[in-house]
Amino acid sequence: MSTKRVLVAYGSKHGATVGIAEQIGVSLREDGLDVVVAPADDVTDVRGFDGVVLGGSLYAGHWSRKARRCAERNAEYLRHRPVFLFSSGPVDSSAEQRDIPPVRAVAREMERLGALEHVTFGGSITARTPGVVARALVHEGKGGDFRNPERIQAWAHHIGAELGAAR
Ligand SMILES: Cc1cc2nc3c(=O)[nH]c(=O)nc-3n(C[C@H](O)[C@H](O)[C@H](O)COP(=O)(O)O)c2cc1C
Repeated sequence: MSTKRVLVAYGSKHGATVGIAEQIGVSLREDGLDVVVAPADDVTDVRGFDGVVLGGSLYAGHWSRKARRCAERNAEYLRHRPVFLFSSGPVDSSAEQRDIPPVRAVAREMERLGALEHVTFGGSITARTPGVVARALVHEGKGGDFRNPERIQAWAHHIGAELGAAR
């Protein structure tokens, strides 16, 4: 059996979602999959992949435009592959405490693409995050890195299993 190829694409503004995508990539490689991690903007053809993971950060209740456009641009071929979506957002422990449903645009993409799953991971705003809003939040003590590596890895290995990876 040939090695399955998986694309992990991300729409990120300040890098937090890149980190999540890279972690997913590491876990899927551990599962023996051939993985490409790439910015959503760069994805023009998904035909070479047996499965696609697409994630985007949340801003003011909206999923990353880069991720959404990637989904729209590649919809025709994504529909025929296993697709897994994720969002990176809450800068608190809420994503740990309960399943946070997809925002409306993501729910719509799930339906349109026939995506198998969606998960919301905690996000990150730290002193290194650029922008006035981020700086103000950190100043008020409302920042932090709420990306949970164990949760991200567990989801990635679950996808690895779904895609039939042989360890
Ligand atoms: C101005 C601003 C608005 C945000 N709005 C939301 C939101 O509506 N929902 C949410 O869950 N997270 C929100 N966040 C948190 C971001 O989604 C989080 O920091 C995310 O990890 C950023 O990912 P990125 O660095 O890849 O863009 C917001 C952050 C900022 C700075």
